[in-house]
Amino acid sequence: MQKLPFPQTHIFYGGDYNPEQWPESVWPDDMALMKQAGVNLVTLGVFSWAQLEPRPGVYTFEWMDKILSMLSENGIEICLATATASPPPWLAKHHPESLPVDADGITYWPGGRQAYCPHSVAYKESAAALVRQMAERYGRHPAVKIWHINNEYGCHTDECFCDVSAAAFREWLKKRYQTIEVLNHAWGTAFWSQRYGDWDEIHPPRRAPTFPNPTQNLDWRRFSSDSLLDLMNMEKAILRELTPNIPVTTNFLGFWKATDYWKFSQHEDVISMDAYPDPANVRLGAHVEAPLFSGGELALQSDLMRSLGNGAPWMLMEQAPTAVNWRNVNVPKGPGLMRLWSLQCVARGAGSIMFFQWRQSKAGAEKFHSGMVPHVGVENSRVWREISGLGAELKRLSPLLDAKIKAEVAIVFDWESWWALEIDSKPSMDVRQMEQVARHYAPLYLGNIAADFVRPGADLRGYKLVIVPNLYQVRGADAENLSRYVEQGGTLLMSFFSGITDENEHIWIGGYPAPFRKMLGLVVEEFVPGQENTVRFDTGEEFAADLWADVIHLEGAQALATFTGNFFAGAPAVTRHRYGEGNAFYIGTRLTAEAMSTLMKRVTDEVGIQPDLTVPAGVEVIYKGKYLCILNHLPEAVTVTVAGTDLLTGGPVNPVIEPLGARFVELA
Ligand code: GAL
Repeated sequence: MQKLPFPQTHIFYGGDYNPEQWPESVWPDDMALMKQAGVNLVTLGVFSWAQLEPRPGVYTFEWMDKILSMLSENGIEICLATATASPPPWLAKHHPESLPVDADGITYWPGGRQAYCPHSVAYKESAAALVRQMAERYGRHPAVKIWHINNEYGCHTDECFCDVSAAAFREWLKKRYQTIEVLNHAWGTAFWSQRYGDWDEIHPPRRAPTFPNPTQNLDWRRFSSDSLLDLMNMEKAILRELTPNIPVTTNFLGFWKATDYWKFSQHEDVISMDAYPDPANVRLGAHVEAPLFSGGELALQSDLMRSLGNGAPWMLMEQAPTAVNWRNVNVPKGPGLMRLWSLQCVARGAGSIMFFQWRQSKAGAEKFHSGMVPHVGVENSRVWREISGLGAELKRLSPLLDAKIKAEVAIVFDWESWWALEIDSKPSMDVRQMEQVARHYAPLYLGNIAADFVRPGADLRGYKLVIVPNLYQVRGADAENLSRYVEQGGTLLMSFFSGITDENEHIWIGGYPAPFRKMLGLVVEEFVPGQENTVRFDTGEEFAADLWADVIHLEGAQALATFTGNFFAGAPAVTRHRYGEGNAFYIGTRLTAEAMSTLMKRVTDEVGIQPDLTVPAGVEVIYKGKYLCILNHLPEAVTVTVAGTDLLTGGPVNPVIEPLGARFVELA
């Protein structure tokens, strides 16, 4: 299905609007305040199913008709949800089999949200009927700008182990393998007497006495992600049929393990994301020991969204105005942080800045989650002042919508490899995909070097450097793609435990990492996880290394660093190999953040990638076409001199950037 354009002349600003939680008398007040805040788009109906269809087949759209009219009379456009994210309690009453069941056979009951099995016929039929009603009723409404399908697929229910799901799994497997013998081969069932004689002997990886078959596990993840995508496509097909000109999106959750967003993004017209970095921990996730300044996690997620959408403006569909409610301790965003993080998203390609939610709830589990209109009201509210201040500022940033970020670095990321890596029974379960990605991303982020995320099979020719953090599982064709990139003159940096298994989770035999052995010019004889060591570089510098060590034998590569301890002391830890016209670097251990920065600098220097502007650490710089975006994540003012026009003020650029301040410069 062809993608629809999402034309934008201005940045969208707004949030989830849940007017059904309030008496109608509040609605006019909402309209007035939205205008005051510069809101021009709201997401309506995300959790409205029970209000729209209080009894099966009985629809009550009158309230929604009214709110749509009010919004459009006030010049506010609508991101209209299909309202299928949380079925009303009647679905479970009439169809108890629609409830999700976990690996232990425990049923998840209604009373929270997202209590449905993705394979339930009753859920699918009811959801499809609702989507049809929504599309027929509102598909021609001039204020409906975009469809918001469901909500955060897989956020709470990303898999279901019930009998209906088991049957769906078998069908999925039949399609993939055609015959039981092919499945037996792929799953390696010659092991532990696991050979299947018939399809109906196969089950989901329910609680088992010990480790379930890893390929079964991996296929289960593929199947579960595909099932959620099928649900999205079921809704999309109805929407396309009835409203062929309205684009669709579903909101992503950053790097969400359950859902393969490379696949999802191909079916979306616009990419959108919900982002909730913890203001209490402004380091890059909780993973990396070096301080990474506020914004690292958001930058990482934003770059993924930009990459999923091939550089088109993406929507920040949700963020918290200040605190959330769902952590153990919910720290607010201090003064200026919401603005800075929002502007950071704009700099990294967002064309919409939206919140969860418009008016802070009075009841329910999210009553302590912040809203754009807080409980305290708008008078004397810091949050409201910041919300309305940002709304005004964003109006000045529309020129950024058409400007593109040009990255010279690509980071290879693959959901299937992530799943495979984190299935049990590995040399070390402490090797975690996102921790490794963060460690490779950190020096780029801190060094103000733009990076795209790509699939392992992507066309890499436009990149000066390709980084491959722990690509444990790789298809043969993808491995060839990476090797060819180097052979033809590219530079690639790969880290340990890459190229170990194929897509069936069978070891690539031929000396680790067999598919990359020639490219890297080395072979790994054994893995030594769980040890602490020191590596000495050829520059004389020494750094600590832990988590993992490869015992490497060189086959043409040169050692850039060697281990100093353990039985493999003196063996290579970091290598470089000239292969064809290009170079392949390899890191056979986990290096400290400092060592990673040093090594990354060496590699980026070698390929001639250098930030154009030198700024103090903690200042983020992004080139977006002819615009330069500068974000000061530091609690103190910094001085950065650039000639040009400040988009926010319309005047010359003040080089003294206030704490948590930002500049958007049209370069002279
Ligand atoms: C998201 C969800 C919203 C709201 C928000 C709270 O996961 O889509 O409906 O619950 O979290 O932070």
